[in-house]
Amino acid sequence: MRLKGKKAIITGAATGIGLETARRFAEEGAQVVLSDIDSAGVAAAAGEITGAIAIAADVTDQGQVDALIAGAIEGLGGLDIFVNNAGIPMLGGVESLAEADWDREMDVNLKSIYRTGRAVWPHFKAQGGGVILNTASIAGLRGSAGQASYGAAKAGVINLTRCMAIDGAQVPIRVNCICPGFIETPMVLAYLEGQDDPVASRAEVDALHPLGGIGRPGDIAAGFVYLASDEASWITGTALTIDGGLTAGI
Ligand SMILES: NC(=O)c1ccc[n+]([C@@H]2O[C@H](COP(=O)([O-])OP(=O)(O)OC[C@H]3O[C@@H](n4cnc5c(N)ncnc54)[C@H](O)[C@@H]3O)[C@@H](O)[C@H]2O)c1
Repeated sequence: MRLKGKKAIITGAATGIGLETARRFAEEGAQVVLSDIDSAGVAAAAGEITGAIAIAADVTDQGQVDALIAGAIEGLGGLDIFVNNAGIPMLGGVESLAEADWDREMDVNLKSIYRTGRAVWPHFKAQGGGVILNTASIAGLRGSAGQASYGAAKAGVINLTRCMAIDGAQVPIRVNCICPGFIETPMVLAYLEGQDDPVASRAEVDALHPLGGIGRPGDIAAGFVYLASDEASWITGTALTIDGGLTAGI
């Protein structure tokens, strides 16, 4: 039990990487709050995990974020780990991307981490420690066609992680992120289904990953378990790439 007695919030937990992270945290002994903008989805997801609590919240709304943190502290009797995982993909280059979509991407994928961070900081400071984990992306490490806002937001997540890590180190509040390659989740399956030839597109995406194709949510959840645990007590400000080797070569 690597997270025994820890209390955690995971956002974007109705599906995909967030749901699998919540499952793995619970298996490792953590008490978890699953949060998502999809209230029905997150209630169903939490129902699958013994002892889990669902609290619906939109990470672009400071009032809902504050209520999520207060509700989790009350429901769990404390809070040690906050996983910023909620995210959306807005596809398009600067020529085609609507300004409202650019702003929405930044708000959901990047500003949300500032928002949750400032809300949870006083609690972590008062208790003398805490862990913040962020889902970045390999799209924040490299440029990609048609991913202007997503790539910029995820690059921002990586450097915001470092800045928060430095600011929190004295407490210590440890702040780290993971950069996943393509992971088989509803987000990626919807993207592939939207391509002209979904089967060929899936084969192309699989071929990008030297370790044998697209990853699974559990590949990322395993990284979050490690970074959340006391085994990682001397790790802060890092961006852990978990991508089946995609970014290893040229
Ligand atoms: N799947 C991949 O290949 C991949 C790769 C790199 C990074 N990521 C990142 O991983 C994270 C999870 O992605 P996923 O693939 O599991 O996607 P997903 O679409 O399956 O899950 C994302 C969840 O976030 C929720 N969400 C969206 N907007 C929200 C908001 N405003 N407030 C609260 N919740 C909101 C959605 O309802 C959904 O349940 C995202 O940050 C994504 O950018 C995914």
